[in-house]
Amino acid sequence: MGRLIILALITIVAIPVYYLYLKSHPPLPKFDVNEWWGPEEMKTKQDISIKPFAVNFSKVMIEDLRKRLKNHRPSPPPLEGVGYEYGFNSGQTEGWIRYWTEEYAFSEREKYLNQFPQYKTNIQGLDIHFIRVKPKVPQGVETVPLLLIHGWPGSVREFYEAIPYLTSISDARDFAIEVIAPSLVGFGFSDAAVRPGMGTAQMAVVMRNLMRRLGFEKFYVQGGDWGSVIGAHLATIFSEDVLGYHTNLPLSWAPSTFLLPLIASIYPPLFFKPQEVERMYPLTEFYSMLTEEMGYFHLHATKPDTIGKALTDSPSGLLVYILQMFSTWTCREDVSRPDGGLGLHHTKEQLIDNIMLYWAPNSINTAIRLYAESFNKTHLNLRLDEIPVQTPTWLLQSKYEPLYQSPLVTRFKFPNVLNVTVLDKGGHFLSLELPEVFSEDVLNAIGEFRKWNKKNAVKNEL
Ligand SMILES: *[C@@H]1O[C@H](CO)[C@@H](O)[C@H](O)[C@H]1NC(C)=O
Ligand SMILES: *[C@@H]1O[C@H](CO)[C@@H](O)[C@H](O)[C@H]1NC(C)=O
Ligand SMILES: *[C@@H]1O[C@H](CO)[C@@H](O)[C@H](O)[C@H]1NC(C)=O
Repeated sequence: MGRLIILALITIVAIPVYYLYLKSHPPLPKFDVNEWWGPEEMKTKQDISIKPFAVNFSKVMIEDLRKRLKNHRPSPPPLEGVGYEYGFNSGQTEGWIRYWTEEYAFSEREKYLNQFPQYKTNIQGLDIHFIRVKPKVPQGVETVPLLLIHGWPGSVREFYEAIPYLTSISDARDFAIEVIAPSLVGFGFSDAAVRPGMGTAQMAVVMRNLMRRLGFEKFYVQGGDWGSVIGAHLATIFSEDVLGYHTNLPLSWAPSTFLLPLIASIYPPLFFKPQEVERMYPLTEFYSMLTEEMGYFHLHATKPDTIGKALTDSPSGLLVYILQMFSTWTCREDVSRPDGGLGLHHTKEQLIDNIMLYWAPNSINTAIRLYAESFNKTHLNLRLDEIPVQTPTWLLQSKYEPLYQSPLVTRFKFPNVLNVTVLDKGGHFLSLELPEVFSEDVLNAIGEFRKWNKKNAVKNEL
């Protein structure tokens, strides 16, 4: 009994102190919005035009890829009775390699990937690739721009099924969305930085400059995975430009945020709703999930160029590396299935298309450097995660997203949340897995952002 009283006293004192502590946040750092990331000698020769772009799976690339796939060495068989507990199930490798080599229809897929207008333009020394789809609007319907930001191991391919929904017209709405979906710096067909320092904050600057290049001073932002971090930075650094921020990976990364679940673990129901408690506790389960699933993260954040070499040389290695992520992050409950549940949520074509956007441009190594740059001390010292986003925000939480925080926790970063959508299905790659559900939610959110912005009289509201 005495212990309980002491605990209660500690809690009563600790919580207000904690909240007061969180209310103070670091100042917004200054960014050089013209920082040059390309080769030094190109500085005087920058071409700022916007050039049409098409994916081109060249004959040479395809032949080389097929040769490498055919020459792969067999893996040892999986341990008896094992699914994905040891990583990608080696019993499944041959089937996938055969599919990629013999059935994957390169020229058809190239056509598919080229169904939307794509461009490249040079931002801060780097050619940035992006999809841009304008809706066909009748009179009286306003077009508003939406920047869609992907992550790793995803790509712009995650948005293909969603784009037709997002850009659709409805009598129920007085607006339509124009989609701009760039490949992140160093990803897909976008150039990589040539010197250290291109972290998520610097990518946010590139994204904002891309939108300006296209004539958008103000725009909406949607992000998942790294896109959610970059999107949050955009709303933090360029709060005037971002009209609303929608994310399907709502997390507050401020180090102190992680204290709340710890403090609340004394008696979680006092702080969280029953279904939130179920997702967050016991904390031991959360920490063991992190240990089990985040090994890749540590590797990318410290030695990206080491694993990068293996993934650059070996398409079968790249295949299993990325597919295992799709299994784990789509639904961890599929871990005991030999196929990792891949076929339950995605088609083979979708998954290989996405891998092709790493293989064809040879971008896997430069892509995973993002972890090292963003977890570099200099970058962390910007403390952007500790500065709250005042922009109206909308959170979408899918059921099987492994990284979960209750809105009470995310509030430290996102105090201005208009609504939270909680799904009883779906995982990490939501726009690819449930494109209609995803798009509906984004459209709802933008409708509400517009109302909020009008009410709060944001000048020059689009
Ligand atoms: C790809 O490149 C080849 C060779 O330059 C060209 O013939 C073909 O039309 C290109 N395909 C696309 C889709 O641009
Ligand atoms: C961190 O980034 C800074 C600035 O880009 C760079 O000078 C430094 O070498 C990086 N440190 C590490 C450990 O990578
Ligand atoms: C906000 O979410 C709640 C619960 O999901 C829902 O009932 C409500 O309609 C939503 N509000 C708006 C404006 O979408």
